[in-house]
Amino acid sequence: MRTLTGLQPSGALHLGNYFGALKQMIDAQDKEELFIFIPNYHAMSSLSDGAVLRQNTIDAAITFLSLGIDPEKSVFWVQSDVKEVLELYWILSAYTPMGLLERAHSYKDKVARGISANHALFSYPVLMAADILLYQAEVVPVGKDQIQHVEIARDIALKFNNAHGEIFTLPTFRVDENLATIPGIDGAKMSKSYNNAIDIFTTQKQLKKRCSSIVTDSTPLEEPKDYTSCNVFSLAKLFLDENGQQELANRYKKGGEGYGHFKMYLKELIWDYFAPFRAKREYFLSHEDEVKQILNDGAKKARNEAVKNLEIIKEKVGI
Ligand code: ADP
Ligand code: TRP
Repeated sequence: MRTLTGLQPSGALHLGNYFGALKQMIDAQDKEELFIFIPNYHAMSSLSDGAVLRQNTIDAAITFLSLGIDPEKSVFWVQSDVKEVLELYWILSAYTPMGLLERAHSYKDKVARGISANHALFSYPVLMAADILLYQAEVVPVGKDQIQHVEIARDIALKFNNAHGEIFTLPTFRVDENLATIPGIDGAKMSKSYNNAIDIFTTQKQLKKRCSSIVTDSTPLEEPKDYTSCNVFSLAKLFLDENGQQELANRYKKGGEGYGHFKMYLKELIWDYFAPFRAKREYFLSHEDEVKQILNDGAKKARNEAVKNLEIIKEKVGI
């Protein structure tokens, strides 16, 4: 099964991004044929500083490689390194009714929030359709907010196929319903826009500070505590097996320990879990050429597939 997804180069990743999305993709590498790329053209729709985008892109590559994207198992590249996607983007535009894009929630939400829309923001789903269809992806793992975009890609593929025969594989989205929403330090959904995130790659001091700021109730130290509603427990669970979770739950139920203890325990869990990833990141940060080589090799593999498919598509549309 061919699985494809794009990971935004949007700055520091937090625990929600990792446990809510990335980890599943990393685990999927052993079971599926994974195509995974950094959509830097997409990022342009909301970022106009070239130096920042360039830096974010390489940072994202380093981050994803450090966390376990394995170029031996998956095809991993930067979107703009396979220019064929832009050619398909234009071709698909001719099969995209305006109404389809006008109904896109993500676009409408941004406009409603007062973001002045440019054409890139409006046509964002067409480029995303090109990403998906160019590689004949069958399954597209995404967060809930991106479901509609995959449906739009499917609609565009159907329109094209109706005109030209069974050219495109019809993609389906995959949202892991079992995945919990990871809470932030205030208990709301962890998100970089809510300033409630715990970043994966941070200093020990900063991590300690973030963990200390997790909101808890005011049950006194000596009293038993309700672990089921505790944000610290919800986060600690992510790092613990059944036994570990049980042991921690027992500590809550027993009383005699304050939230401060649990917060520092969580800090240790996070710090230790990401230790090997930090080491890899340090390595890649000082071997940027190696990272660029990996991305080039990935783009070559992706382009082979892209060129082959685009040839058939262009033949059909008369280009
Ligand atoms: P943010 O809300 O920080 O801007 P994004 O929207 O960029 O995060 O999310 C990137 C990916 O991480 C998406 O697939 C999204 O579903 C997942 N994700 C982000 N935050 C969480 C969370 N708190 N819990 C679960 N998954 C999350
Ligand atoms: N729009 C996606 C996001 O914001 C990123 C993305 C771009 C993508 N192209 C894609 C995801 C193709 C899946 C498939 O997260």
